[in-house]
Amino acid sequence: MQIRDKFEKISELAKRRGFFWPSYEIYGGISGFMTFGPLGSVLKRKIEDKFRDVFINPLGFYEIESSVIMPGKVFEASGHVDHFKEPMIECSKCKRRFRADHVLRESTQMSDTETEKLSLADLMKELDKLGIHCPECGGDFGNPRQFLTMFTTTIGPYSEAIGYGRPEAAQGIFVEFKRVYECARGRLPFGVVQVGHALRNEISPRQGPIRLREFTIIDLEFFFDPEDPQCLLLKDVENESLRLILAENKLKGSKNPVEVTVKEALNKGLIKAKWQAFFMVLSKHFLMKLGVPENRQRFIEKLEWERAHYSVQGFDQEVFLERWGWVEVSGHNYRTNYDLKQHMEFSGVNMRTFKEHEKATGREEVVVSPIMSKIGPAFRDKASEVARLISDVDPKAVEAGFKKQGFYMAGDFRVMPQYVEIVRRSVDEKGRQFIPHVVEPSFGSDRMVYIALEYAYRVKSGRTVLSLPRELAPREIGVFPLVIKDGLPEKAKQVYDVFIDEGFDVEYDESGSIGRRYARADEVGTPLQVTIDYQTLKDDTVTIRDRDTWKQVRSRISGLPKLLHAFLRYKVEFGDLGQPIKG
Ligand code: GLY
Repeated sequence: MQIRDKFEKISELAKRRGFFWPSYEIYGGISGFMTFGPLGSVLKRKIEDKFRDVFINPLGFYEIESSVIMPGKVFEASGHVDHFKEPMIECSKCKRRFRADHVLRESTQMSDTETEKLSLADLMKELDKLGIHCPECGGDFGNPRQFLTMFTTTIGPYSEAIGYGRPEAAQGIFVEFKRVYECARGRLPFGVVQVGHALRNEISPRQGPIRLREFTIIDLEFFFDPEDPQCLLLKDVENESLRLILAENKLKGSKNPVEVTVKEALNKGLIKAKWQAFFMVLSKHFLMKLGVPENRQRFIEKLEWERAHYSVQGFDQEVFLERWGWVEVSGHNYRTNYDLKQHMEFSGVNMRTFKEHEKATGREEVVVSPIMSKIGPAFRDKASEVARLISDVDPKAVEAGFKKQGFYMAGDFRVMPQYVEIVRRSVDEKGRQFIPHVVEPSFGSDRMVYIALEYAYRVKSGRTVLSLPRELAPREIGVFPLVIKDGLPEKAKQVYDVFIDEGFDVEYDESGSIGRRYARADEVGTPLQVTIDYQTLKDDTVTIRDRDTWKQVRSRISGLPKLLHAFLRYKVEFGDLGQPIKG
């Protein structure tokens, strides 16, 4: 097979060297599932740890772990049962099923913005009008329907106990909000993160690691008071620039980004929530730490019909990839109080937070009380129903009804002023109850593994080098005896043990020529290679080779761990590790 583009080169490398590969290969594979191998699973974990370094640890956020299977009620409340659907069509001949908007987009010049706007019926009409047929067999399309893309199951042996595989980790945070709020000692704002598997039963995923049916999601839900967001950290980033493609420009057919500072974006109302802008900057930094330069990143605003049902403003952070062009790496949504409000309504549990006023404030409270001695004779066996209805009404509406028409209609019952008592009293208000608002940055780990590999991939003198950021490299140090005789392997194993004891990710390799071992280490992105040679036996020094420049220095073993820790954290440069070796 002829290898065509970078994606294919990386996929071949990923399989051969154990980063990732399609799952269930022995059974022919099923698209949308991927297995991370020995190197890929370490790279993925290090990317997730980098997220923790940027978003969780410095900000004092919390991380939780909830279950993947969740009861149906959760997703009825969240709106996913109604909204988490894709338009599906079926070929009447070969019976293959497709996403209608994808088929239309792939067969025309239409953009995703245009196809996503169309209803299922309109998609069918367009396909019909343009004479678009099944890409596999040329058959006619039919059987259009909305396909629920959540995996459905039953919980235990009861078929009525519907459960779903979570399509996002966010709901696990919302349903546990009260507990985490207690952990935060009842204070806003705070952030809660969940890193875990999510399931989406995509109709026909075809983009390898970019679109999976099972993947790792990183959802950060940040809870704040919309009247007092306390975004004190904003001043640290307000002069940073963001490349935004605004919804209004998309509507005019332009996808040119505008480059604005955070301050400008907020002053002009381009980004609605301050905390959202803050997290967008952090996300830019995070992707830079994965090796993606700023000019290969942008944030594209979603149009109303492209946004998730819970979002009032949404931006996708996109990264440029050679095969697919601009690809979403994170979603940034202002979810307001939508999710907590829904769970409050469906569970009946109060999700409000309380904020004490600095000084108690006086407030007039108006209460409408039914006078039973009047209501009883007037409504007889309906009297208690009328009394209940009256107790639930808005006092202002009752007063307005009396003033305007001389009575108030409680359901079907005409309530006269003499049936009720309107009491006014002054109450001291100690604080305010409200449902917090939420902004959410959300990342997919799996595609970030691919992105990090694509941005690290180089060819130097005809050889593949993965110039991964040092902190992400699955193997930090390679330890090689120059030859496998004269006590060199034994000495190399001592050095290996020292490095393992120091907590480095180390690989010992003694097979093949030293040149081949260097090449193998470069190909998986090992930043430093330490060679034990005859000189080592004389003076306890080793050769250290740099993956990216292939330069070498000579250094004493004692004191080396400290230097290597510093190098791997970008605190010192390669030249600081020892005496240069001319070569
Ligand atoms: N929670 C983010 C998403 O569903 O995409």
